[in-house]
This record gives sequence, structure tokens and C-alpha cells, in this order.
Amino acid sequence: MNQQKNPKEHWESVYETKTPDDVSRFQIRPAISLKLIEATGVSKDEDIIGAGGGASVLVGLLFDTGFTKLAVLDISAAALEHARQRLGARAGKVEWFEVDVTGFDPPHRFNLWHDRAVFHFLTDKADRQKYIETLKRTLKPGGNVTIATFATNGPLKGSGLDVARYDAPGIGRTRQQILSRRAGGRSAPYSMEHRTKF
Ligand SMILES: C[S@@+](CC[C@H](N)C(=O)[O-])C[C@H]1O[C@@H](n2cnc3c(N)ncnc32)[C@H](O)[C@@H]1O
Repeated sequence: MNQQKNPKEHWESVYETKTPDDVSRFQIRPAISLKLIEATGVSKDEDIIGAGGGASVLVGLLFDTGFTKLAVLDISAAALEHARQRLGARAGKVEWFEVDVTGFDPPHRFNLWHDRAVFHFLTDKADRQKYIETLKRTLKPGGNVTIATFATNGPLKGSGLDVARYDAPGIGRTRQQILSRRAGGRSAPYSMEHRTKF
């Protein structure tokens, strides 16, 4: 993140000044995310983690759909608090991680990693490499990844920060990096989403 020295401070101030519904292109029903997650074939009792999921309603929707082992990771305490409030009593069933995704050290591994609009904020190559290392630490063998970013014809900025935009070959190269850094270079069934718009 070259334009933002302290991303945590930035995101805390975003949530202080905006409602979660104003952050990113908030979705009342994140249907594409749900469809992608279901398309991976992940079972209802497998571990799913939502990166940068603080402002999203996805975790509640996943509960409604029958998934049971859910975790949310976000750099912002305020974002996570919004998510807990939204969930009410169900918040107690979720694992919460207030952490920068580039340094996440999970207490256990997950079957699926979902990221909508976090990876594209990593505009420095070193941070993208750290993100890939996080995936390596976090995913079970054969685990799945879904990543949604701004496309090359999308906005240059999101929530006041520069973004790295991706076309299909760009996200494909990232996919290759993830695969090559997996233990044993195993070709796990990753899913990548390429978004033109949010
Ligand atoms: C644009 S919002 C997207 C929220 C949600 N995923 C959605 O699709 O509506 C980006 C989220 O990622 C979080 N975030 C940004 N950079 C992060 C980082 N380096 N590590 C963890 N979370 C981060 C922000 O706090 C924010 O909640």
C-alpha cells in the first residue's frame, strides 16, 4: 500500500465517517460471492474465512444457507464491530480476527478463503507476496480461493485508496503464483472471479 502508510488507521477512519453500507459497493445480497463459494463444492461443515469481511453481510447469508464454520478477518476493529452487531446472537459462533491480511497467522487452516475487494488494495508487490504467503499458511491442502477485484476498466480508487486493477490474464498470473507457492506445488481447485463492476 504505497499511498497509505498506516492502512489500519485509514480503515478505522473510513468506518468512523461512513456506514458499512457506504463502504465499497455494498451488496444487500452478495449473490455472486455465494454462487462462487457454492461452486467450489465446499461442504456446509467446512471452514470458511472471509478476508476484509467486516462490512459485508456475507457471513450472515452463509449461516442462512447452512454453513456452520465461519470466520471473518478485517484490519478494522470498527468494521468487525459492525459485523457483530448485524449478526446479533450468531456473532458468538463466528471466529473474528482483527489483523492485517498480509500478516495473518491462522490458529488453524481453512477450506475456503473469500476476498471481495481487499486484494486490490495491495498495490505494492511485497504486500501481494505477503498475501500469497498468508494463503499458504491459511489454506488446507486442496483448499479454494475466491478473489474479487476491480477490473482494468474499473475505478482507480476505492474508499480513498489507489487500487491495483486486474484483467483475466493479470488475475491468472496471481493464480499461478498462489499455486506455485502452495506446499508441494499442488494444483488445488482455485476459483478466481474477475469483476468488471461491483
Ligand atoms: C472495500 S471494503 C470491502 C468489504 C467487503 N468485503 C465487501 O465486499 O463489501 C474492504 C475491507 O477490507 C478491509 N481491509 C482493507 N485492507 C485490509 C488489510 N490489509 N487486511 C485486512 N483487511 C483489510 C477494510 O477494513 C474493509 O472492511
